[in-house]
Amino acid sequence: MPTIPRLDRPSDASSISTTAGTAVRERGIGLLGCGTVGSSVARRLLVSHPELLRAIAVRDPHKPRAVAWDDFESDPFEVVDDPAVRIVIECIGGVGIARELVLRAIARGKDVVTANKDLIATEGPWLAAFAARTGATLRYEAAVGGAIPIVRALSGALANEDVSEVGGVLNGTTNFVLDAMAGGADYGEALAEAQRLGFAESDPRADVDGHDAAHKLAILAGLAFRRPSVSPQLARRGISSLSSDDVAAGAERGWRLKLLAMAQRTASGQIEAGITPAFIPEDHPFAQPRGAENVVRVVGRNCGTLTFSGLGAGGDPTASAVVADVIAALDARTTSLPAYTGADLVSSPLRSRVLVRFRGGSVVTPEPVPLDELEATARVYGVHGDVRSIIPIWSEAA
Ligand code: HSE
Repeated sequence: MPTIPRLDRPSDASSISTTAGTAVRERGIGLLGCGTVGSSVARRLLVSHPELLRAIAVRDPHKPRAVAWDDFESDPFEVVDDPAVRIVIECIGGVGIARELVLRAIARGKDVVTANKDLIATEGPWLAAFAARTGATLRYEAAVGGAIPIVRALSGALANEDVSEVGGVLNGTTNFVLDAMAGGADYGEALAEAQRLGFAESDPRADVDGHDAAHKLAILAGLAFRRPSVSPQLARRGISSLSSDDVAAGAERGWRLKLLAMAQRTASGQIEAGITPAFIPEDHPFAQPRGAENVVRVVGRNCGTLTFSGLGAGGDPTASAVVADVIAALDARTTSLPAYTGADLVSSPLRSRVLVRFRGGSVVTPEPVPLDELEATARVYGVHGDVRSIIPIWSEAA
């Protein structure tokens, strides 16, 4: 099982000189990256905080961009090191140079705002601990659910809630593709359209193979269950093997096919979690998102069922969350997100009953099947004929 890096082990943090304890009194903002999200953030800040935006770093300063800024920087490390920059917004993405820049900003004790779900879902727990050590802050509302304020809800309003379930539909691209397939579109064409609309990751396999949803679920589960949590630990299936026949088989039964991301506490106290295409009854909240919309449901002992829905992908919705984090960083009264300690969140694969389709018919399994045993189940039902697909059916009572 993947482990979460710890600050008490030699790691990247030990080789970075820090300026912890140095008061950073400046209020300047440095933006790293000016792609789909970064350019929306820049346009928003040029209206709301033009006097504070000090620098924008991009890979190619000469490329034409729809942002009214004359002097793009080519060296993002200089922006991070600029003493006039107190708030570093990371909109580059991935765990390459973006990771180095975030580490450097934290080492310098700066306020970091990032939309980088890959980084937070794989290294967030120790980055938060590192930030607590250097006096930096780390905010990542934009990493999950676009404009939906779910990170803030879980870390703030629900900080003392006894959560039993968190999850829903967390990836706009797969939602868009599955919707389009339900309308008769071809898988490849629908994916290309999601890329054109700016929903899909630069490598759309991150979306269709479920990595993006896994990152988001790991972040939400960590906040909900207040344990360090990383995405490689989660059971995961994507949508690339689904066919129009699968979508149609669900429609005949009153189900919609969605990429479901779910973490829930079982009656025995274990956490079950996973990402999987699943059939959802048409009237269920998880079946409602269209296109780039997401839905997140939190169930807690005291709060009951809370459902959050809205635009989960795209430049402007995601920029809303980024700029809100910048405003929180500017407001000295607002604290950083929590850095959890203790045992890592451990989950077993999500379980649900499954529709097995084979040549000439289909069956629903009488018992829930764990997500990592679908192939074995398919082999069992193979006695009925060639198995064409095996897809979980989401049910509250599974
Ligand atoms: N590729 C992501 C999605 C973008 O489709 O949801 C938002 O995180």
